[in-house]
Amino acid sequence: MCGIVGYIGARDATPIILNGLKRLEYRGYDSAGLAVLQNGKIEIRRDAGKLSHLIELVAQSPLSGTVGIGHTRWATHGEPSARNAHPHIGHTGRVVVVHNGIVENFLELREELAAEGVTFNSDTDTETIVHLVEHYQATGLDLTEAARRTFKQLRGANVVVLLSADEPDKIVTARIGNAGGVVIGYGEGEMFAASDIPAILEHTRKVTFLESRQMAIVTREGARLETLDGEPVEAKIHTIPWDPVAAEKGEYRHFMHKEIHEQARSLADTLAGRVDFQNGKIRLPELNLTPELANRIQKIYITACGTAAYAGMVGKYLIEKIARIPVEVEIGSEFRYRDPIIDENTVVLAISQSGETADTLAAMEEGRRKGAVLWSIVNAIGSQAMRIADGYISMQTGPEIGVASTKAFTAPLVDQYMLAILLADLRGTLDEKTRRQLVSDLRLVPDLAGRVLNTEPEIEKVAWALKDIRNCLYLGRGINMPIAYEGALKLKEISYIHAEGYPAGEMKHGPIALIDETMPVVALVTKDPWYEKMISQLQQAKARGGTVIAVATEGDDLVPTMADHVLWVPETPWLLGPVINVIPLQILAYHIAAIRGLDVDQPRNLAKSVTVE
Ligand code: F6R
Repeated sequence: MCGIVGYIGARDATPIILNGLKRLEYRGYDSAGLAVLQNGKIEIRRDAGKLSHLIELVAQSPLSGTVGIGHTRWATHGEPSARNAHPHIGHTGRVVVVHNGIVENFLELREELAAEGVTFNSDTDTETIVHLVEHYQATGLDLTEAARRTFKQLRGANVVVLLSADEPDKIVTARIGNAGGVVIGYGEGEMFAASDIPAILEHTRKVTFLESRQMAIVTREGARLETLDGEPVEAKIHTIPWDPVAAEKGEYRHFMHKEIHEQARSLADTLAGRVDFQNGKIRLPELNLTPELANRIQKIYITACGTAAYAGMVGKYLIEKIARIPVEVEIGSEFRYRDPIIDENTVVLAISQSGETADTLAAMEEGRRKGAVLWSIVNAIGSQAMRIADGYISMQTGPEIGVASTKAFTAPLVDQYMLAILLADLRGTLDEKTRRQLVSDLRLVPDLAGRVLNTEPEIEKVAWALKDIRNCLYLGRGINMPIAYEGALKLKEISYIHAEGYPAGEMKHGPIALIDETMPVVALVTKDPWYEKMISQLQQAKARGGTVIAVATEGDDLVPTMADHVLWVPETPWLLGPVINVIPLQILAYHIAAIRGLDVDQPRNLAKSVTVE
């Protein structure tokens, strides 16, 4: 997601905002801008390109004022350009807004506004926000109420910060959906609002966070928090420790917990710069995928280890289903020993968080030796798997510190979904309507992830019920079969409980003998094409006395009659189901391990980067 910094105080806002944006540069962006209230007027500097370019613009044409908002943007609606860069100002020239996220109903809102005669100066979803605020102001509402009405109309995961020249003593901010964050920083006679803690840490360590559907009216003296329905909210103020590691963990006890919770946002970041929602297109420029190459690919080998290999198994489903190219998944440690059949029309696609896993790199070398096209999906920028590939997709999730991979599992699922669409588009095997639908479904992902994260208290209760188990079986089918594997891996590696993932249809061929009252079964029974098959597998497990924990789709009233515990997930387009369905399993594993008092971030015998064979 993009970066946001807002300031209101007595000092010059411009350097504070520019420095804050600099601290967020690591998140990636393609445009930058800021707006400052100067002598009662809103002044904006913005352009495509890096922050250094914005700093030059400001040097050429200085800004000065004590209230301002700044933004680094990753394009989702419209190309990176000056007109699409934030902040966006309304037609009155009196309101200005910056925004992170995706307004899911933006086309609807844009049409409604256009019907009222509003014209648009950009291709962004953000611009609808500022026009809506002005629309409500024109009915006589003050900034806070006009903003509240606007926020309530926005669907999806969104963070907004805005200010008005007519009410220069405040900044209004909101966290609307379930993803993305707003941190409000408390200073002496000055206040900050930002998307991330690092943006404001040099000024204050006293912060509060907005929850979903909350807004704040920030003045020089403090912040008033409310729900979007106008209920007052008491701000819980946290003091961020000076120790850099503890500071980075923020409000979380473990990095793994933090990284699980970052997923709503890291999934938004995964889309940033890649998805053109207007035209239903995918851009993956670093992959160097030409139409010529797309059309000659006859086979893709996905190679990876551990969690990354399970991500690859989901990728097989996605690429075969959407792009109709045969895919084989081979774990890195085996690939080079099986003499794979490769020629110049074969792609070897490596998935690796670290980009330094010895077995995965060796598999890539084998691919290179045999003349394959080499691609990688990598999190660590500049790592070997990125450097030696002919093309790559960067995960854009930010560093993952916890040894057990979480956000670096869900990002490549979305990356492969996007890759599948791009391949199909270039090969001409996807009709336009389907392509547009597949692309449009992506905008739901961050908010759906956020909704699952909000169910954590219920999942934690299940973790308490399971804390003493010795074994556990995870079952899934179809596209969710790898999620069963991944759920089991998460549990075993951090809690040291023996867990196995199984394709549910295989139960009757042996493993069902294991099920008795001491063997809990975690089953993925979401509304997907395998739902009915999974229901019958659930019945079989239940009949043998096992405790059944089902991952089920909200609103399903059959599954609760068969399961002892249900981990609910929101209804999700099934090709994106794995991204959402794995999250409750990550949370469950995390809490079981944390309750058992284990070193969650550094489980015994494991390393974050496995650089030996
Ligand atoms: C499990 C886990 C490992 C890694 C595997 C590959 O939670 O993190 O299974 O997925 O060691 O690592 P990378 O992705 O760095 O190649």
